[in-house]
Amino acid sequence: MYEYYASEGQNPLPFALAELIDNSLSATSRNIGVRRIQIKLLFDETQGKPAVAVIDNGRGMTSKQLNNWAVYRLSKFTRQGDFESDHSGYVRPVPVPRSLNSDISYFGVGGKQAVFFVGQSARMISKPADSQDVHELVLSKEDFEKKEKNKEAIYSGYIRNRKPSDSVHITNDEERFLHNLIIEEKEKDSFTAVVITGVQPEHIQYLKNYFHLWTRQLAHIYHYYIHGPKGNEIRTSKEVEPFNNIDIEISMFEKGKVPKIVNLREIQDDMQTLYVNTAADSFEFKAHVEGDGVVEGIIRYHPFLYDRETYPDDPCFPSKLKDEDDDDDCFILEKAARGKRPIFECFWNGRLIPYTSVEDFDWCTPPKKRGLAPIECYNRISGALFTNDKFQVSTNKLTFMDLELKLKDKNTLFTRILNGQEQRMKIDREFALWLKDCHEKYDKQIKFTLFKGIITRPDLPSKKQGPWATYAAIEWDGKIYKAGQLVGITYCHFFNNNLI
Ligand SMILES: Nc1ncnc2c1ncn2[C@@H]1O[C@H](COP(=O)(O)OP(=O)(O)OP(=O)(O)O)[C@@H](O)[C@H]1O
Ligand SMILES: [Mg+2]
Repeated sequence: MYEYYASEGQNPLPFALAELIDNSLSATSRNIGVRRIQIKLLFDETQGKPAVAVIDNGRGMTSKQLNNWAVYRLSKFTRQGDFESDHSGYVRPVPVPRSLNSDISYFGVGGKQAVFFVGQSARMISKPADSQDVHELVLSKEDFEKKEKNKEAIYSGYIRNRKPSDSVHITNDEERFLHNLIIEEKEKDSFTAVVITGVQPEHIQYLKNYFHLWTRQLAHIYHYYIHGPKGNEIRTSKEVEPFNNIDIEISMFEKGKVPKIVNLREIQDDMQTLYVNTAADSFEFKAHVEGDGVVEGIIRYHPFLYDRETYPDDPCFPSKLKDEDDDDDCFILEKAARGKRPIFECFWNGRLIPYTSVEDFDWCTPPKKRGLAPIECYNRISGALFTNDKFQVSTNKLTFMDLELKLKDKNTLFTRILNGQEQRMKIDREFALWLKDCHEKYDKQIKFTLFKGIITRPDLPSKKQGPWATYAAIEWDGKIYKAGQLVGITYCHFFNNNLI
């Protein structure tokens, strides 16, 4: 299992937590009011041994379903034969923008993989709306081993049925935090709580020390679920949004400290939020892949503004470029904005698949011959791809299996989407024109400020005499220069004073 999560230099722990959030998103998909998902890191030793709890107000599980939870690879597809009310046959979700269909329970492995990656034991507590009783099941590695030795059925477990808020069965002092969790059941019609104990010490250290980092990663993974199909457009006016009913709240409790609590929606510096808010314009497209595969795509333009690129850097993993100290006095040409990063991040059923990215498509790479827009403009774009469920992902939801292959198939058809309409013109041409337009409209070396008025200039040929806008100052590289001010301009290897 450790191999299973083995990953590209990143700690996979946030992705294990994501599996439990996936389950909660699926479980709350039919909620009428708010969809509440809480991740509680119970690290206060005065309350017992460290634990991680994921709690949602979703539909809950019957005792049969709870038993099924524990069965490896029993998914909604393989369950079709059972006649439990909501498992009588799998129905594909209807298409929705960005495929935000909450249908992210897939293989029947995620929850189990995740809990035993995080810790040694899991207590599942669940109540469906039409049940008087709460169902509880405890699975532990130790127990599996014992059963295996005794040649008993390994996954058969004992399910306890009890009244909501009744915690008399919790006699173990190491789990006394459970009393508080269980008391809260009173207010809930239906819910599921996954409580992981025996949390690996290195995970506890990571969760404590890198709280800022992994909460941003989760905000990134679920960006479009939290903020809706347009993403987190930071607005000044408070408009009512149809997409703000998913509350994913992370809280960490430590002895003698104020609890750290963050709602993922409040995070304003996850990568998608940065992309959305530094973009001056966007180019939307759709790809039709053989066999019902549909991919929605967006490319965003991050202009060159006032002497610097606005393409955002990842605050959690800053690119090396910035650290290089340029103590040289020479003017250094701005390096390519995107650097070596691929253009596209990839989302499956609305959630990020973190280890897959797509470098580019042939219609958005710099042309061999001189194009319509300067070459550097091709480095000012970021993008996202949103696939539906017709694309395969690995069972740990870390990588796509065949996305790039399918997209680059010669039969894949790309079209630009403008104002919701598919455009007829070839996408190469549409893209080149859009990029040229972005360059002309948005890339600006210097910011002109203190507008003085419009003038005509009789010194110029008649066609070019007006209108001319005049300004009293410029802002350049963070400094303001006013008309009439004496400035020094430093060039490489020689100096030159000028009056402007
Ligand atoms: N929070 C929850 N609320 C209600 N039912 C749940 C919850 N978590 C899991 N389940 C049920 O347990 C099943 C097994 O979950 P598990 O995460 O192990 O696999 P899966 O979600 O079906 O597939 P995947 O491998 O994609 O995660 C789910 O299909 C779902 O029916
Ligand atoms: Mg799952």
